[in-house]
Amino acid sequence: MSSIIIAFLLNLLVESSESFTVVVPGDPVVAHVGSSVILPCWISPPENAEALEIRWYRHDFNNPVLLYNHGKIQDTQEESYRNRTSLSLRSDQSGGLKDGDVSLRLEKLSVQDEGPFRCYVSGESSYDSEDVVLKIMALGSTPVLFPKPLDDGRVNISCRSSGWYPEPSVTWTSDDGRVLRPGGSSHSRGADGMFSVHSWTAVSRSDAQLVSCSLSIRTGELKEGRLNIQGIMPSDASSGPWKALFFTLLISALLGLVGFMLYKHREKLTGKKPAEENCEEGTMEKLTKAVVEDMTMEELRRHAVEISIDRERLHPDLTVSKDCKIMRDGPGYNHTDEGFPYELCAFGAQRFTSGRHYWEVDLVRSPNPPKHYWLIGVVKEGSSASKHRSALTPSAGFWFLCSDGPHGFHTNTDQSIILSLNPRPERLGVLLDYDDGQLSFYNVTERKHLLTISSRFSGSVVPLFGPGAGDQSPITILDCPEPVESAAESSQPLLSNNSSDA
Ligand SMILES: *[C@@H]1O[C@H](CO)[C@@H](O)[C@H](O)[C@H]1NC(C)=O
Ligand SMILES: *[C@@H]1O[C@H](CO)[C@@H](O)[C@H](O)[C@H]1NC(C)=O
Repeated sequence: MSSIIIAFLLNLLVESSESFTVVVPGDPVVAHVGSSVILPCWISPPENAEALEIRWYRHDFNNPVLLYNHGKIQDTQEESYRNRTSLSLRSDQSGGLKDGDVSLRLEKLSVQDEGPFRCYVSGESSYDSEDVVLKIMALGSTPVLFPKPLDDGRVNISCRSSGWYPEPSVTWTSDDGRVLRPGGSSHSRGADGMFSVHSWTAVSRSDAQLVSCSLSIRTGELKEGRLNIQGIMPSDASSGPWKALFFTLLISALLGLVGFMLYKHREKLTGKKPAEENCEEGTMEKLTKAVVEDMTMEELRRHAVEISIDRERLHPDLTVSKDCKIMRDGPGYNHTDEGFPYELCAFGAQRFTSGRHYWEVDLVRSPNPPKHYWLIGVVKEGSSASKHRSALTPSAGFWFLCSDGPHGFHTNTDQSIILSLNPRPERLGVLLDYDDGQLSFYNVTERKHLLTISSRFSGSVVPLFGPGAGDQSPITILDCPEPVESAAESSQPLLSNNSSDA
């Protein structure tokens, strides 16, 4: 028996030495969740591989990731790889299959794709195979910081972020560069294999002005959230749950320069550079990407819900289209006094009591210019609209972003955040994260995060729309398109601007 095997092996050795070997890169191939990757594999010396069998597989030879023989790709395939694989060129210079290049292209990567892929090539008289190792990573959401004043005068800051792979490390620092000890951290893993992180630290106000929570993975890519703790009221000043609104500024640094300075700063702090980075230019590019990348449009739209206007609870001076999607100030409305017509508002017919929900509105109808006056947000069911801005607070069940013509953009949080948004948004995305108490706004056209209001929701909340008065364009609620499948689209990040916790 053993002599047969030896004879067989010898036979192979002899034959393969006069035919081909399979060659793959020595290092693992690294790619991000959701993106596409090419796993290089080729035969040497080069020969036409069109007549060979090419089998890419993981655990089961008979249930391959991709099988090519008799001159074409076969249907036999592991179900989870269906429609995600193809044979590809390992570089622009490659001559392809004719030249012995049997590289595999894999799309829509998930955490489950991590690990070795066997590249097996077989001809008439010989075969060979090698493993290509794929490492997956996912850069999570920009950390959101939330302060809670403690009785002893310190502030308990919590930092949350999700969508990481592998498990990220958390670093707390103060603005003067000191590393702050975390009070505690916990990680959890979702069904998709990705990690969520929650960390907290208690800081005294005299200790720091800006506190930063930064999450990073082994490539050196990181996401950072920062919080100014000086404006936070001591706990006795915050009597009701809604009074405890804190102005905080979470800077997801937009500028590469800022990111770069942070990076240099970290480097000084830790005394060493993260592995793999010795070219400053490359580093800067990577870090810029890390700092500005946020949820993609596709991730947002995964939470898309269909919204329509509730006709029963409509201000009589509003005009709404038949399909309950388009609204504007009615012809009879006479807006005389100064200031935004807050009472002129419409409510969505959909109620939310948990989870994440996303919708988009158009604020322009060509050829008219983008609207100057609008108000978009959510409202607690049962709250009634008012003429007076002072009555529309989070404690009264209102959370919104308002565009008030020449007066700019502002939130209704107790410490109002005034923004200048340039250009004026044409299409606005709204993400309600009920459980995490966040309402985020996005400029969809520019794929940019505008700001996040943090609060706590209770009961049912419904979408809120105010079309203002006097604009030519109406507000149009869009039926959100399904997430776009193309790799080019999904790899394009949203830019983050800034966020505020209230
Ligand atoms: C693969 O694509 C075909 C045709 O486009 C489609 O009918 C099928 O449902 C897809 N399969 C999977 C698993 O996505
Ligand atoms: C700080 O807040 C976290 C929750 O975010 C909590 O688990 C922790 O016990 C708090 N720490 C202190 C000292 O209150």
